[in-house]
Amino acid sequence: MNSTKKLKHIISLDSELNKIKDVDILLERILTEARKVVNADAGSIYKKHGEIITIHFTQNETLQSKLKPGEKLPFSSIDLPIDRKTISGYVAATGESVNIEDLYSIHKDEPYSYNTQYDKMSGYKCTSNLTVPLKTAQGRILGVIQIINAKNRKGEIVPFSKDDELVINHFAANATVALERAQMTRALLLRMISMAELRDPKETGPHVNRVAGYAVEIFEGYARKHNFDEQRMHRERDNLRIAAMLHDVGKVAISDLILKKPARFSEGEYKIMQSHTLHGAKLFQDSQSDVDEMAAAVAFSHHENWDGTGYPGHIDPYTGEVLKADDQGHPLGKSGEEIPLWARIVSLADVYDALSCKRVYKDAWSQDDVLEAITAEKGKKFDPELVEIFFNVYSNILNIAKRYKD
Ligand SMILES: [Fe+2]
Ligand SMILES: [Fe+2]
Repeated sequence: MNSTKKLKHIISLDSELNKIKDVDILLERILTEARKVVNADAGSIYKKHGEIITIHFTQNETLQSKLKPGEKLPFSSIDLPIDRKTISGYVAATGESVNIEDLYSIHKDEPYSYNTQYDKMSGYKCTSNLTVPLKTAQGRILGVIQIINAKNRKGEIVPFSKDDELVINHFAANATVALERAQMTRALLLRMISMAELRDPKETGPHVNRVAGYAVEIFEGYARKHNFDEQRMHRERDNLRIAAMLHDVGKVAISDLILKKPARFSEGEYKIMQSHTLHGAKLFQDSQSDVDEMAAAVAFSHHENWDGTGYPGHIDPYTGEVLKADDQGHPLGKSGEEIPLWARIVSLADVYDALSCKRVYKDAWSQDDVLEAITAEKGKKFDPELVEIFFNVYSNILNIAKRYKD
């Protein structure tokens, strides 16, 4: 692409980025597109958290080509202080972009240096580097994009040009607008979730972020297997990430006396606890968008089981009318594909996280025990196809667990 074409491409991406609601989905996309537009082999995107910047996504086409399809690079959770000693730290501290021809011959007068240890660990040599801030119009730094190893037409590593610098800075400015908005959405969601957490202390920010991350991985595996087109895949994973975070938000409506009861529930109490699915669905009743619809489906059906033994079953969430009943008039559970795909995915992700983590009533299980339990529920509690996909993307699942620790 020549630079006019590159600029046109960036402008066309603008509306696309602005449609993305979820922060993680957006950060990943920003990095992908930044690399694409200047043909860079690798890169990382950092987000600012207080006084540090943290890597959120790393991409590397050369290393990626050696992995199984769908497998992602192992995630290294690197936190850097915002100071002038590292390149990304320098960019976050000063708000200036840095373009380096060769990381192995940085001039000794520069305040920053390159830690070649990363290359030794990964077996991949980083040479050319372009690092730009994600800076709002008011000058606030939200993060940093670092792209590595520009390639020419022959696939040789070359320096990033002045034009590339211009184009990427322009792109970063647009991306920052989208990121600022997505961060606001995330903050609002987390506030809603902390209200549910007041009722049920298990529903924490890290828990819902992990469940949402796992759900997206499982969905991507499903979408690849069923050849979803790119557009649909991007749209639905973005909606799912948000809907999954809200799976238990209906717990705001359940009394503390029940949710925090240390002893076993009576039958009546159990019924009330189960009604968090209906309350959740009701929160999204006046559907304004696709994401509301998906959030309602997830909240309503995330406790249904593949074999029909879950709840709340065939009931109208808004009127409470029983639509299909057993002999005693209790609603029959939904089974198989009667349960929306989104809810089947979140059910698996939620149970996996609950088993893997410490809760007040239990210790964290070993991963072997968790995986065994999930296998045992294949075709019973869980959609058997999704369990298979879960095992295929298991290494990505572990990466997400590292990103959102308790
Ligand atoms: Fe739930
Ligand atoms: Fe949960």
